[in-house]
Amino acid sequence: WATSYKEPYRPQFHFSPAKNWINDPVGLLHHNGTYHLYYQYNPGGIEWGNMSWGHATSDDLTHWEEQPIALLARGFPENVTEMFFTGSAVADVNNTSGFGVDGKTPLVAVYTSSYQVTQTLPSGKEVKANQQSQSIAYSIDDGMAWTTYDEANPVIQNPPTPYQNQYENFRDPFIFWHEQTNKWILVTALSEIHKLVLWTSDNLKDWKVLSEFGPFNGVGGVWECPNLFPLDLDNDESKTKWVMIVGLNPGGPPGTVGSGTQYFIGSFDGTKFTPDDESVYPGNKTSNWMDWGPDYYATTSFNGLPSTDHTVIGWMNNWQYGTKIPAYPWHGAMTAPRHLSLKTINEKPTLIQQPNEAWKSIESQGKHSSTWKTFNQGSKDLGPVGKTLDVELEFSASDASKFGIIVQATSDWKEQTAIGYDFKGKQIFVDRTKSGDVSFDETFASVYHAPLIPNSDGTVRLRILVDWSSIEVFGGDGEATLTAQIFPSKNATFAQLFSDGGDTRNVQLGVRRVSSTWK
Ligand code: FRU
Repeated sequence: WATSYKEPYRPQFHFSPAKNWINDPVGLLHHNGTYHLYYQYNPGGIEWGNMSWGHATSDDLTHWEEQPIALLARGFPENVTEMFFTGSAVADVNNTSGFGVDGKTPLVAVYTSSYQVTQTLPSGKEVKANQQSQSIAYSIDDGMAWTTYDEANPVIQNPPTPYQNQYENFRDPFIFWHEQTNKWILVTALSEIHKLVLWTSDNLKDWKVLSEFGPFNGVGGVWECPNLFPLDLDNDESKTKWVMIVGLNPGGPPGTVGSGTQYFIGSFDGTKFTPDDESVYPGNKTSNWMDWGPDYYATTSFNGLPSTDHTVIGWMNNWQYGTKIPAYPWHGAMTAPRHLSLKTINEKPTLIQQPNEAWKSIESQGKHSSTWKTFNQGSKDLGPVGKTLDVELEFSASDASKFGIIVQATSDWKEQTAIGYDFKGKQIFVDRTKSGDVSFDETFASVYHAPLIPNSDGTVRLRILVDWSSIEVFGGDGEATLTAQIFPSKNATFAQLFSDGGDTRNVQLGVRRVSSTWK
């Protein structure tokens, strides 16, 4: 693929397209040993438009290969008449759709068709409106070539009664196979009114409304990109719970501006998703944030994996400044693949996220480990350790107010990104106020926080993935994550540990230098 992956800010182990704009990951599917990552893509430019489904594949969730466009905006480039918005994909192994031929398993994608329609008002005047409907496409060559189901698309034309007037903001179908009822389930967003609608089908073509969900918790902006899936609580198969993910734009986590991702834990009986009481905050004021940083949105799940291997990828950008980031000739990247589980913490079922194990297949270029019984107040230089790091840090409180690591610093420390723990506030922080180019948007130069309670023995653990233009922090067991883009200079390779306001105890540091994952 035509890129050197040496351009400034080019992600080395996160997926980004060779060129042009991307946003949401869509249609994530593991099929016949291949991971498919489709994504919202503009084949004609570096800003949002001409929305198509781009495509990349991987054997290990780490090394991605860009493939030809899967669904090209209809009419592109002269006169686009239909755009392919966010959706999902499944392997229809029982050929319920009838799209399979010669015993081959059809893959079926469901996406939002975005059209311009003309309406005639009572006055007789004609006006243009945007219509969003749900359509399907299928592939009988394992996900490379796709055929839209033109005979009957859209398969869900309008929102159900009494929400028909919401046709302009009706999108992002997520589908999955529901074992217990032997049905396909689909969930879509009525974005403006903060509702989700659940549908069911036997054949992926005829859909019937099941129930609705919302509004709950964060409603500061539109609801988008829902996901619904089961996870076993504490690895106990008899304690399965269901998780609903909902994107919110704007209205993200405290201290961020723009888009963010919330989740609900509850139960699903095949018809209706009911959130647990602890998952709902009266007054719609707050949310369970899936990630506390500014750059984690439109997260979606892989179909085709066992629920013990539930894996998601998010869009590592923000609608607030997505089109202004200083990365060329592309805009946007995906997060590292994350493994999800549910664990009881302080008597509450809690969503746990860790980099997917497959990510370990990334090549290492050496590891540096150090320990300190007492890390004295002050700082310790680690030298020019590089720009692609997998950092593991464990430490316990003493009298320091903050402990952490500075990465991607220039040798004069003028440029730097600080990641650490604030013992008093009991929170992780990422400070990107000096992370190189921060000028392209007035909200970008900020400090972000994620609440994290230390272990019962007082230790705090941070796992930090550092790439050329991003930081992903996994705190504790992964109950708090914080994702933020950064745009530091090429020579910002230095790192340093720091203990502010006093000493820190039992510090263990592991820094693994990782290499590029491009094929
Ligand atoms: C979320 C989103 C979706 C929509 C897509 C369009 O980022 O706004 O709701 O389907 O992007 O590209």
